[in-house]
Amino acid sequence: MNVTEAVNARKSVRAFLPKPVPEETVRQILIDAARAPSGGNLQPWKTYVMAGAARDELLRRVREQWEAGNFGEGTEYDIYPKDLKEPYTARRREVGYMLYELAGVTRDDKAGRIKQMFRNYELFDAPVCLIFTIDRQMGLGQWADLGMYIQNVMLLALDHGLATCPQEAWANWYKTLTEMLSIPDEEMVFCGVALGYEDTEAKVNSLHAPRAGLEDVKFFGFDSAWAKG
Ligand SMILES: Cc1cc2nc3c(=O)[nH]c(=O)nc-3n(C[C@H](O)[C@H](O)[C@H](O)COP(=O)(O)O)c2cc1C
Repeated sequence: MNVTEAVNARKSVRAFLPKPVPEETVRQILIDAARAPSGGNLQPWKTYVMAGAARDELLRRVREQWEAGNFGEGTEYDIYPKDLKEPYTARRREVGYMLYELAGVTRDDKAGRIKQMFRNYELFDAPVCLIFTIDRQMGLGQWADLGMYIQNVMLLALDHGLATCPQEAWANWYKTLTEMLSIPDEEMVFCGVALGYEDTEAKVNSLHAPRAGLEDVKFFGFDSAWAKG
């Protein structure tokens, strides 16, 4: 798979097979992912990896709280801006509708939507949970670096026959994660990534999220009009 193929093939997978991923594979992905660039080579990313009993324990802790009526701990950063404007609101709504339709959840089925939301906290059955944190001292530039690292993780996973789903949903359980993984106070949970083998039979995995074309790109100089003034 070349880079173009990998970038086009990556998608958020929301149904995994219960097939374990070897630790060695995860280690290799994380070693390679760290080739991501970062301003000043700070490499500001921090990663926590859970599989087996640790992964099961995390899911158990969250399920227990959910069943007791606690639907999250809030997040330490705004996942979306408070008054998200257009065209972003429309984009978010569109992909949400597409997902719920494939999951067989109708628009007025609130319980179905909550159930689908909870699938995040079952890791969509993925065997590995990656949690990414960053030192609170870091600013916007380093958060961008973290994003590049995570994208590397997701692309490299493909090379090992694996699939991923990035999950901001885990930021909503930062206290549970902090306690369970002994995350130091100086770190903030950004997101998780579910890692495993795609269930290619699952309808929900046929979601092909749309993209804007080049409408947010502006070109200068190619037609020489710039030089002509
Ligand atoms: C940082 C980040 C967090 C995300 N969090 C979630 C999440 O919590 N749950 C989920 O189902 N998808 C999540 N997504 C996936 C997005 O919905 C998805 O990337 C987008 O709709 C485009 O689809 P694609 O990844 O299949 O191309 C997240 C994506 C990113 C980059």
